[in-house]
Amino acid sequence: MTTTPSVPSENPFSRPPITVPEIASWKRRPYGGTASPESSPSGGPERRPLVMVTAYDVASARAAEAAGADMVLVGDSLGMVVLGYDTTLSVTVDDIVRHTAAVRRSLRTPLVVADMPYLSFHISPEETVRNAGRMVVEGGAAAVKVEGGAKRVRTIEALLDAEIPVMGHIGLTPQSINAFGGFKVQGRIPEAAERLVEDAKALEAAGVFSIVLECVPHELARLITRSVGIPTIGIGAGPHCDGQVLVFHDIVGFTTGKRPKFVRTFANLQEAANQAVSAYAAAVREGDFPTLDESYSLPPEVARVLAEKYGSG
Ligand code: KIV
Repeated sequence: MTTTPSVPSENPFSRPPITVPEIASWKRRPYGGTASPESSPSGGPERRPLVMVTAYDVASARAAEAAGADMVLVGDSLGMVVLGYDTTLSVTVDDIVRHTAAVRRSLRTPLVVADMPYLSFHISPEETVRNAGRMVVEGGAAAVKVEGGAKRVRTIEALLDAEIPVMGHIGLTPQSINAFGGFKVQGRIPEAAERLVEDAKALEAAGVFSIVLECVPHELARLITRSVGIPTIGIGAGPHCDGQVLVFHDIVGFTTGKRPKFVRTFANLQEAANQAVSAYAAAVREGDFPTLDESYSLPPEVARVLAEKYGSG
């Protein structure tokens, strides 16, 4: 048995739920953040860097809510940090739907974006819409994210036609790992950099409401950010994007092995978890857990009846 998770009543920022149009129009706000602005202010509520974090379950969703995150991505990074695969390629639509629903039940404010996994949007527009529709209807996502640039325009149009908002994702797109030959920084040669600028413009023209830029040089991320009117959300793309995203497990120190240079670990929960579970195991072995205070007792009259019948065990 465990304690029941409850939906957080309020986050410290106490805002109404964040919507797709709010994010899409983010760059039309006057700048009020701490990083340098990448587009000129033009009125409306104040702008600051957007905060996105991945979440997969109740605990990570609650942390996102408590931090006042603007967006939560139920990323296909799920496959690596939760399910133990070496890549994201084995993640299924069922996986994303189930974890999106868990996150949705645990959140109030952030916009929930579900990641479309490998092969969920590559076969046909019909299959794409059916898969994304499950993420919205069964998972409760407000939008989906699709990896890829200009070649995804038809896919994006089909989704928008079905009223499903889309977030783009270019640069190091992990579903292309076999085509890229590994997890490598993208856009380091002129043709590749130009292609990424054109990809971002094509995605904007197709109607995405924001674009994730993953593992690209910061100068290129700045150029792309200046080239589009929708917010860019960077991961390994430097400080000039309109927002940032990190994987929850990286932030809290649940991931092990060699970390990419863009990951900053803000806590070491794995060490804390190891210590807690080791302390529990030691207490069990030494007979220190549970104590009678941590146990239930029989009503005295029931204890008496049992003792009369069976003796006092
Ligand atoms: O799957 C994921 O977590 C992602 C982010 C890293 C952007 O796509």
